[in-house]
Amino acid sequence: MKILICICFFLLHLINLSKSTTPNILIFLVDDLGYGDLGCYGNSTIDSPNIDSLARDGARYTQMYSAAPICTPSRAGFLTGRYPVRLGLTSNDNRFRTFNSPGQPGGLPHDETTMAEIAQKLGYRTGLVGKWHLGLGRNGEHLPTRHGFDTFFGMPVTNVQTCGNKKIYNLIGGHGEVLDRSFLSYWITLTGKIWLTFIGIAFTTWYFYSRKLAFIILFAGAIGFFGGMWYTLSFTLLSRSSCLLYRNETIIEQPVHLENLTLRNTNEAIEFMKDTVTIHKKPFFLYMAYIKVHTALFTLPENVGRSRHGAYGDNIEELDWSVGQILQALKSLNIENDTLVLFSSDNGPFLERGIEAGFCGRARTIEGKLSEPLRGAKGQTWECGIRVPGMLRWPGHIISGQIIESISSLLDFYPTLLKLWNVSPFIDRPLDGISLWSQLKLNNETLLSSSSLSIEKERDTLFHYCGSTVTAVRQGKYKAHYWTPKWDEGLHACPSVTICPCLSNQHSPPLLFDIEADPAEESPLDTQKHSKILSLMDAAVQEHKATLIPVPNQLEKLALPWLFPCCKTQGWTRVFRLITNSCQC
Ligand SMILES: *[C@@H]1O[C@H](CO)[C@@H](O)[C@H](O)[C@H]1NC(C)=O
Ligand SMILES: *[C@@H]1O[C@H](CO)[C@@H](O)[C@H](O)[C@H]1NC(C)=O
Ligand SMILES: *[C@@H]1O[C@H](CO)[C@@H](O)[C@H](O)[C@H]1NC(C)=O
Ligand SMILES: *[C@@H]1O[C@H](CO)[C@@H](O)[C@H](O)[C@H]1NC(C)=O
Ligand SMILES: *[C@@H]1O[C@H](CO)[C@@H](O)[C@H](O)[C@H]1NC(C)=O
Repeated sequence: MKILICICFFLLHLINLSKSTTPNILIFLVDDLGYGDLGCYGNSTIDSPNIDSLARDGARYTQMYSAAPICTPSRAGFLTGRYPVRLGLTSNDNRFRTFNSPGQPGGLPHDETTMAEIAQKLGYRTGLVGKWHLGLGRNGEHLPTRHGFDTFFGMPVTNVQTCGNKKIYNLIGGHGEVLDRSFLSYWITLTGKIWLTFIGIAFTTWYFYSRKLAFIILFAGAIGFFGGMWYTLSFTLLSRSSCLLYRNETIIEQPVHLENLTLRNTNEAIEFMKDTVTIHKKPFFLYMAYIKVHTALFTLPENVGRSRHGAYGDNIEELDWSVGQILQALKSLNIENDTLVLFSSDNGPFLERGIEAGFCGRARTIEGKLSEPLRGAKGQTWECGIRVPGMLRWPGHIISGQIIESISSLLDFYPTLLKLWNVSPFIDRPLDGISLWSQLKLNNETLLSSSSLSIEKERDTLFHYCGSTVTAVRQGKYKAHYWTPKWDEGLHACPSVTICPCLSNQHSPPLLFDIEADPAEESPLDTQKHSKILSLMDAAVQEHKATLIPVPNQLEKLALPWLFPCCKTQGWTRVFRLITNSCQC
C-alpha cells in the first residue's frame, strides 16, 4: 500500500503544468439545503437573487445527486470522487452514519487524495471555510490542514441543535445568552425556580390540606430537580465538546458563537481570495462549506424576520446575502472570468426538524408538468434525500443560462477538475464520477486538455447508497429501490429516532419507478413487465460490488467518552473541565 501511495504522488509530480488550465476554483456547498429552497429551483416565495444569478450566468442541473444522503459520506465522496463506502466512511448502524463526536478517532483515510491536495500540488493556495465533518483525530491528524488545505477556518464536527442557544433561551428566558456559564449555574437557574415553586406548593398543601399529598409534591419536585440535571448536562457537554471553531489546528472558540458566524465566514472567504490573488499571486481553491442551513438555525439579529418562511427562510436569505458578497468580491478583484464556481448541497432537507427544515421541491416531468414534492428526506435514498441544487459558472467559458437534465453527481466534480487540470486519475483505485465537460455547452475558445482521459465516459448507472448498502439504483430513466426506510406515522421522516435507519423495508422484487415521468416516485411500475431492466440493474450492482475492497471502518471506531478537545489545555481534557466550562476560550 505504501508503495502505491508513493507512486501516486510521484505521478502527480509529473503533471505538465504548462498544459494545465488553472482558473480559481470556488465551491459553495450548503448543509441540508433542499431541492426546492431556491428561486432558481422554482421557489417563488423565497428571495435568493444572488444564488439564482449563478443559474442565469452558468449551467443549472436538474438532476444533480449527492454521493450519499447524509453529511459525512456525501462530503467524502465529493472531495475524492469515490463512493464513500470505498473510504470506510459509511455505516449501516444508525448511530454511526456521520462523525458525531469529536472523540472519534477515525477520519478520511490519508491514502486518499482530495481535490484540494491535487490543487495544492498544482500551485493553488487552498482554503476551507466552514464545515469539515470528515474527522478530527486524537492529535488533529484528520483535520482539513492534513488533507490538502493550507488554511482552515471553521468547525471540524457539525453544527447540532445544542450549538444554538435557543433551548436555553426558552428555558431560562434569556436573550443573547451564550453557553458561557458552568453546568452548575445553568442547573440552578433551570431548576431553581421549579424547585422553589414545588416547595411553595408543598408547604401550602401541608398547611391547608394533607401532609401525604405534600410529600408526593415534594417528590415530584425532586424528579424535576434531577431530570434538570441530566438535561443541563446533555446540552452543556454536547455544545462544549462538539461546537468547536478552529483556525488551522487550533481551537479559537469553545463553544462557538453561532449568531454572526455566517458574517465571519464570509469575511474569511473574501480575505482568503484577496490575499491569494494580491499577496501570494497564486490561483485559489476555496471550499466554502456553509455551516448553514443545518439546525441549529442562526442569523444575525437584523436578519430575523427577513423572510416570510420563519427562521428557516431567514437562514436561506442570509446564505444568499453571503453568496452575493463573495461573488461581488470576485468582481471587485476582476477575476470573475477566471473563476470556476460550483454551488450545491450535501444532501436533502432534514425533515425530522419540522418547520426548521427545507423544502423537498418539485421536479419537472418529461411532459413538462411540475411533480408533487419529492419523496423522503435527508438520510434516505428517495429523491428528496439525494437530489440537490447544482450550478456551475465560468463566465466566457460555460455558456450562460443552460439547463442540464442529464443524471449528474457530486462525485463528478473531482474528475471534472482532473480533466480541466490535465491530471490523470490514479490507476490503483477506481474513480466513480465522470467528467461533466462533455455535457456542458462551452465557448469555442475554451481550451480543455486534449488528452483523452478515461474519465470522459458516459454514465450508465448511479448507485444510491444509504449507509454501506446500495439501497437504490438509477439506470437511464429507471430507478429501483431495494430498501426503503420505515417512516413515522404521517411523515416522510423519523423524528422518533433522529433520522430514518436505512434498512427497514426490503423489496424483492425492487420498487421500480420511471423518474423522468414520475420524479415524486408515486406510481411503482409493474416489475414483471420490466424484468429486463431489473436484471440489468442487478447485474450492474453485482459488478459494482465486485470492485469494492474491504477497508477499515472509520465511523464505527469508538470515541473515548471521557476525553474531549479543550482549547485551554493544549490537547484533550477530561469531561470535568467541560462541566465547569474551564475550556472556554
Ligand atoms: C494556517 O496555516 C497556513 C499554512 O499552513 C499559514 O499560512 C497560515 O498563516 C495559518 N494561519 C494561522 C492563523 O496560523
Ligand atoms: C461576533 O460576535 C461576537 C460575540 O458577540 C463578537 O465578539 C464579535 O466581534 C462578532 N464578530 C463580528 C465580525 O461581528
Ligand atoms: C420555498 O421554501 C420555503 C422554505 O423551505 C418553503 O417553506 C416554501 O414552501 C417554498 N415555497 C415554494 C413556493 O416552493
Ligand atoms: C467576462 O466574460 C464575459 C462573457 O464572455 C464578457 O462579456 C466580459 O466582458 C468578460 N469580462 C472581463 C472583465 O473580461
Ligand atoms: C462555435 O463555432 C461554431 C462553428 O464554428 C459556430 O457555429 C458557433 O456559433 C460558435 N459558438 C460560439 C458560442 O461562439
